[in-house]
Amino acid sequence: MKLSTYNPSNIEGIKQLFNKTFSDSEGQSEGLLIGNLVYDLMTSTDGCNLYGFVATENEQIIGCIFFSKLTFENEVNAFLLSPVAIHTSYQGKGIGQKLINFGLNTLKDDGVELAFTYGNPKFYSKVGFSHIAEKLVKAPLKLTYPEGWLAQSLVRDKVETITGSSYCVEAFNKPEYW
Ligand SMILES: CC(C)(COP(=O)(O)OP(=O)(O)OC[C@H]1O[C@@H](n2cnc3c(N)ncnc32)[C@H](O)[C@@H]1OP(=O)(O)O)[C@@H](O)C(=O)NCCC(=O)NCCS
Repeated sequence: MKLSTYNPSNIEGIKQLFNKTFSDSEGQSEGLLIGNLVYDLMTSTDGCNLYGFVATENEQIIGCIFFSKLTFENEVNAFLLSPVAIHTSYQGKGIGQKLINFGLNTLKDDGVELAFTYGNPKFYSKVGFSHIAEKLVKAPLKLTYPEGWLAQSLVRDKVETITGSSYCVEAFNKPEYW
């Protein structure tokens, strides 16, 4: 298994991985939704506001994650990890955690200070995330599941309060993703 930065020429293969993985785990409509989300992310986000990483086996993509810019009124350098997919037949082998740690280390080397995500705390706590109350750091849109708002500092021991609003990239700026 190899971990690397994604190749933007592989848009269709990556869209299909997300579509298939989320269809398997949460049904076809969720698969379509997340497939379209990653398509939008890859096609509408400035390169400097997006990181993508893939896990490959025999040149086939078996996992993929994205981090997109989260902007605050103060100039903290922050990214949002989402979405994350490991091909159904490769789940539960540690690949998700390895790929996320690979991505976090790359962001840290690039000077990113904070990483956020929105998902299952049980899984994301394995890669350093913990719950952050919205009164400490606001999410960009209204959360249907506030317990899933998670953060970690890549440069300090803990996440400090950030005043003011936050803004996600355009592809994420839809209530159905939150
Ligand atoms: C969630 C996902 C990314 C995890 O990747 P993975 O490679 O299967 O996970 P790893 O092997 O690195 O880690 C496995 C651990 O995470 C936990 N875990 C895996 N999927 C989980 C999930 N959906 N919810 C909670 N915990 C989960 C397992 O219980 C396991 O913990 P254990 O070792 O204590 O038993 C992957 O299963 C996946 O793509 N699922 C479908 C899409 C999805 O749910 N994406 C994330 C949206 S928040």
